Amino acid sequence: MRILSVRFTGIDLERPSFTALIFFVFIITLFFTHSLSLAGEYHATSEETQTGSETLACSQCHTMHGSQGGQSLLYEGSGTYPKLLRASSILNLCKYCHGENNPGPVGWDSRTPPQIFNNQLGYIPSGGDFKDRNYANERNRHSVGTDVSSLPPPGYTGTWSDVTSKFSTEFNCLYCHDQHGNTNFRNLRYDPGNPANDSPTSPNRVEVTYAYNPSSDPNDNTKDVNYWGAGADTSPENKFTRTRVRFRRSPVDNDSPARGIAAWCGKCHVQFYGASGASNMGGTSSSGGVGAGDDNSSSSSPWIRHPVTDMNLTTATSNLHADLSNWSGVSGRVRHIDPDGTPGNGDDEPFCLTCHYAHGGGNPNNATDPTLDHSNLVMVDGSGTINLDSSYSTSSGRMRNVCQQCHNQ
Ligand code: HEC
Ligand code: HEC
Ligand code: HEC
Ligand code: HEC
Ligand code: HEC
Ligand code: HEC
Repeated sequence: MRILSVRFTGIDLERPSFTALIFFVFIITLFFTHSLSLAGEYHATSEETQTGSETLACSQCHTMHGSQGGQSLLYEGSGTYPKLLRASSILNLCKYCHGENNPGPVGWDSRTPPQIFNNQLGYIPSGGDFKDRNYANERNRHSVGTDVSSLPPPGYTGTWSDVTSKFSTEFNCLYCHDQHGNTNFRNLRYDPGNPANDSPTSPNRVEVTYAYNPSSDPNDNTKDVNYWGAGADTSPENKFTRTRVRFRRSPVDNDSPARGIAAWCGKCHVQFYGASGASNMGGTSSSGGVGAGDDNSSSSSPWIRHPVTDMNLTTATSNLHADLSNWSGVSGRVRHIDPDGTPGNGDDEPFCLTCHYAHGGGNPNNATDPTLDHSNLVMVDGSGTINLDSSYSTSSGRMRNVCQQCHNQ
């Protein structure tokens, strides 16, 4: 842009070359506007998206009177529902579009909603499943649909009733996602652990920034997440496919506000999150950047919980706690934060999604008794396939295959 504005100075508008330049700029602008109009963030209004495209229609979820032209506008049942919703519960509303039998293309832009509840679309969803291969395993997923009024998140330290009274005692999608959209990746709430802080200006918010491109990897390590691809109905891969979502920015301890997925999970699982040197975590503190970890310096340097932010493989290898050369050669590497965009080298860092799925884990890991699977865990089989993949081998699949990629103990 700067080059163009220099060229504009003192230019003669009648000159053909200038007219050609203007036309060129016009075509380029059209091209960019067109790509932007394909952007994601379906539930956000244009003011709140990174891309400025608006796809939300209030009437897709709310009905003013329950009927139009004498026809019911409800997705299920009869009568009218709280907050003028078109379904009897928040979960049922989301499931109408994101369930296993969704209505197909919806809205004026005819986009197919991704099947979140039990994905049948032939790709591995980034967030995992709530029900996998038709097996619903409470212990291996965030238990949406159950009463969690006396089941606070493990590690939580706030006032849980503030959360359950805001979003209903039935654990549902709104605990984590803002139905009206916001500026975070996947409309993740700014503070899912405390509704009073859930605002874009709260100093306690977590930002999960992102770069999205409809066709290719945006390759932007100033953003926490990068993802790419077309809509959910594009098979076999699309923008919700696990391998098309990459975690790029290394969160640093002095980020204010906090940033990244681990800090976000840490709003509910408070005690499980912290930087190197935090009393609930262990490790050796750093001065605001990437941590020093267990540098074998003192009795307080060992970790008491697994590091989830600010620890990279170079430091861990020089501390003799990880094995970078093993990690470099691994096929089917687990998810990690990858600031330089080249997987398998020393700046890679473990975080929550290295070991967990956000929604729920794959079943059955254990062929004989899937209820033994728990904690939304990512497991890897002998050939590097994850447990959400239908070709995962239960005979060679183990949690330890995840650990060994970095530790090689
Ligand atoms: C994806 C579905 C969806 C869309 C689209 C949607 N809403 Fe909502 N809205 C909800 C749900 C679910 C609630 C109930 C939230 C709760 O109970 O905490 C809600 C609540 C509300 C409320 C009550 C305030 C609150 O936060 O509880 C208002 C007002 C509202 N919506 C207005 C709108 C307007 C205006 C639009 C269009 C710009 C819109 N909604 C689009 C799902 C939606
Ligand atoms: C009327 C259908 C409809 C309903 C109801 C609906 N969604 Fe969606 N949602 C969609 C579509 C369509 C997309 C994907 C659009 C695309 O390809 O970008 C989407 C995308 C999303 C995304 C991903 C946004 C992103 O950044 O790419 C989230 C998160 C989401 N929905 C959550 C919810 C929640 C929570 C509810 C219930 C409150 C809900 N949806 C109800 C149609 C719906
Ligand atoms: C809105 C608060 C909230 C957020 C945010 C949240 N969780 Fe949870 N989580 C819960 C609750 C409540 C439970 C206990 C009920 C259940 O098992 O679903 C739970 C349970 C879990 C469990 C144990 C599951 C089981 O059934 O044994 C794991 C693992 C987990 N969460 C991981 C994560 C990860 C990883 C993230 C970030 C991607 C995250 N959570 C974000 C509320 C949250
Ligand atoms: C405990 C928090 C939590 C709950 C509850 C939750 N989500 Fe998510 N969701 C996430 C996170 C975190 C991501 C991003 C995960 C990733 O990219 O690996 C995500 C991703 C998504 C996506 C993008 C597709 C994908 O597979 O990544 C959609 C759509 C979505 N969620 C919809 C829903 C709907 C609908 C519900 C309710 C049935 C729901 N979510 C419940 C945390 C949650
Ligand atoms: C190195 C792998 C790894 C990382 C990283 C990791 N976890 Fe875990 N997590 C596990 C394993 C394995 C379990 C099973 C219980 C155990 O070993 O403590 C577990 C259990 C849990 C549970 C269930 C606890 C219970 O009481 O049922 C929650 C919640 C959880 N993790 C959340 C998180 C969050 C949030 C993060 C990031 C801040 C995270 N985990 C990072 C591997 C990991
Ligand atoms: C993506 C790489 C990665 C994976 C996968 C991973 N870790 Fe780690 N782990 C690390 C890093 C980095 C450290 C920090 C080491 C340091 O401070 O020098 C660490 C630290 C540890 C420590 C503490 C070491 C100490 O001396 O304080 C233990 C124990 C550990 N990991 C066990 C596990 C287990 C068990 C699993 C599997 C459930 C696992 N790790 C998976 C990277 C990983």
